[in-house]
Amino acid sequence: MPSDEFLVTPWEVEGNVDYNKLTALFGTQPIDDAILARFKRLTGSIPPMLRRQVFFSHRDFNWILDRYEAGEKFVLYTGRGPSGHTHLGHLMPWIFTKYLQDAFDADLYFQMTDDEKFLQKDELSASATRGFSYDNALDLIALGFDPEKTRIFLDTEYARTLYPIALEVAKRVTFSAARAVFGFDSSTNIGMVFFTSMQSAPAFLPAILSGRNVPVLIPCAIDQDPHFRITRDVAPKMGYYKPALIHSRFFPSLLGLDKMSASIPETSIFTTDSPEQARTKIANAFTGGRTTVQEQRDLGGVPDICAVYQYSFYLFEQDDKRAVELREECLRGARACGECKNELADKVVQFLKHHQAAREQAQDRIEDFIIRDCQE
Ligand code: TYM
Repeated sequence: MPSDEFLVTPWEVEGNVDYNKLTALFGTQPIDDAILARFKRLTGSIPPMLRRQVFFSHRDFNWILDRYEAGEKFVLYTGRGPSGHTHLGHLMPWIFTKYLQDAFDADLYFQMTDDEKFLQKDELSASATRGFSYDNALDLIALGFDPEKTRIFLDTEYARTLYPIALEVAKRVTFSAARAVFGFDSSTNIGMVFFTSMQSAPAFLPAILSGRNVPVLIPCAIDQDPHFRITRDVAPKMGYYKPALIHSRFFPSLLGLDKMSASIPETSIFTTDSPEQARTKIANAFTGGRTTVQEQRDLGGVPDICAVYQYSFYLFEQDDKRAVELREECLRGARACGECKNELADKVVQFLKHHQAAREQAQDRIEDFIIRDCQE
């Protein structure tokens, strides 16, 4: 793929994503200063992921805040396609979702699309995607979501509730609309064609369960937006509010700037990685460093293409002042890549230790979160 080209679909992200072009292409709105000021007025602060434009785009976020200010609480909805272990990129929107749950005292519905991953991945059986759903749920619970306000479900186990909603969606989406949005062709299995209606269904769940219209906000990386363009199209036809969205950029791959990929393990740190595995991956990471120490001192590094710097910027350096210093020190050649790698590895290992202990404890609490209406 030429260096100025990229592709973003829910199943594939390729190339160096130009986020300005992408928002224009998808027709989403940028998160601007007015939204940040409004967020601060309502919640008292602006989290780093918003300040740093990690969450950079939205659909109808202002409307969600209008409803909130009018006393109409919104419900959060997000999810995971359980095709393997969770990596740090997946955690990013969930960490932000947890922030939103606390800041707005919002309920969360969390969908595990075990059906999607069974349909999409030849190598995965239905029992494997079910197993990964429960494994990945531990990661979500480990982040500290409130069990009173958080409901996790697997599509295959909550189907009696979801399927009738998905049918209402599916009846209103033509094959040609789905093909235009997702690029399906005649070799696509028919389950995948229907699947988008299962991902739409939870956007209407709060309204259906409560018997009144409920505003819904979906935090996710921007790759999931195509599904919700369809959801938003059909919502008024079904008599519901359109769900609002807030989109993040992609947490970078350790080997370069494109999206972390679960299918290439060296590009990602998984929540189940040992400290040694995480350290080795970071030691081998792509940096913006020069070929010799002397060149690095003379010319400085290139933090904007450096996976190690990006890791700090996206997740591991919460202090804005320090993040700016790291960048400037790199630019003027005052830092060696080894130093940055060691510092990042220490932070990642500390995070993993804490997260893995919380994951262990989550084993006993999983049933406090799961809802189901049918079982094998
Ligand atoms: P999945 O499993 O591909 O991804 C789970 C969540 O993580 C986001 N994501 C990333 N965020 C930042 N950096 C990355 N490198 C990265 N890779 C993935 C995704 O955008 C997603 O938010 N079909 C969905 C599951 C789903 C869902 C939803 C997601 C069902 N309902 C509602 C969001 C909102 C999927 O396969 O996600």
